Amino acid sequence: MTVEDSQVKTDRLIYRPRRLRRTTALRRMVQETTLTVNDLIYPLFVMEGEQQKVEIASMPGCYRYSLDLLLSEVQQAFDLGINAIALFPVISEHLKDDTGTESHNPDGLVQRTVKAIKQTVPEIVVITDVALDPFTTHGHDGLVDDKGIILNDPTVEVLVKMALSQAAAGADLVAPSDMMDGRVGAIRRALDAAGYYDVGILAYSAKYASAYYGPFRDALDSAPKFGDKKTYQMDAANAREAIKEVELDIAEGADIVMVKPALAYLDIIHQLREYTHLPVAAYNVSGEYAMIKAAAQHGWIDEKKVILESLTSMKRAGADLILTYFAKDVALMLV
Ligand code: PBG
Repeated sequence: MTVEDSQVKTDRLIYRPRRLRRTTALRRMVQETTLTVNDLIYPLFVMEGEQQKVEIASMPGCYRYSLDLLLSEVQQAFDLGINAIALFPVISEHLKDDTGTESHNPDGLVQRTVKAIKQTVPEIVVITDVALDPFTTHGHDGLVDDKGIILNDPTVEVLVKMALSQAAAGADLVAPSDMMDGRVGAIRRALDAAGYYDVGILAYSAKYASAYYGPFRDALDSAPKFGDKKTYQMDAANAREAIKEVELDIAEGADIVMVKPALAYLDIIHQLREYTHLPVAAYNVSGEYAMIKAAAQHGWIDEKKVILESLTSMKRAGADLILTYFAKDVALMLV
């Protein structure tokens, strides 16, 4: 086709995409993706003490709450229509050890918090994180040998205890975020053996070794004291491996699979959406939150619009659920 031919074609153009963009009503009619409050999961940080609400420096607008104040935050979220929260504990230094014993203490911070939420706001879905990093002195998600190697199967044994103690406290979904091999299956078998058939598993299936977790590690004071997490979390360069991880997690009994982080991994969300019929979740992580907040504070971007555009892109890519620190803000924007 010559340039002239194609110009003739353009002149005779019958379909003009701009026709359907002309008015707000037309645009709404052809909108393909809709973000709703049902898509949102609100991650929350809980700390010891009373009447504590401590802002996280690298996550303006996000706080570590003591349990008493956390309960009203959970109630507020529920009143805004948010269906689920994901809990992360700030563990006091004196309770940390090499093996993360505190993670499966039946009276530990997470376990007490879950019980209290289930008494106060029983309908909200409570998701608990299954990983050792907040509980270990070294800050890794697993047990470490004397050469600094992260041990897989011994870690899985501790994760199983942790998941069982969270189920006993009343968690609706346990969410292994540790990336040890075989943990989903081990947790599923243990939950079933203990009669917790209805406790589901939200698997952090494709969790990347990402620099976007920095602010979260500030929040929990959980940065690894040596090395990095590259022997268990995935390499940012890999996509096929994400499918392999999801395949395994599904075979092992995952109910929901997750991609983390979200924005830099929209292609992975899309591929997993095509691969499985399970719900796919995306974690809009702390670094993604911090970047938007920082730019907005400088007046360089329109915060609300950038938030909605970012979360819409995650849904468009195929996410059914989005864990986001913006959950309350977004719930307010959507009413
Ligand atoms: C720990 C965990 C991390 C996040 C959730 N669970 C950090 C990590 O793996 O180092 C990150 C969440 C965020 O950055 O918002 N297993």
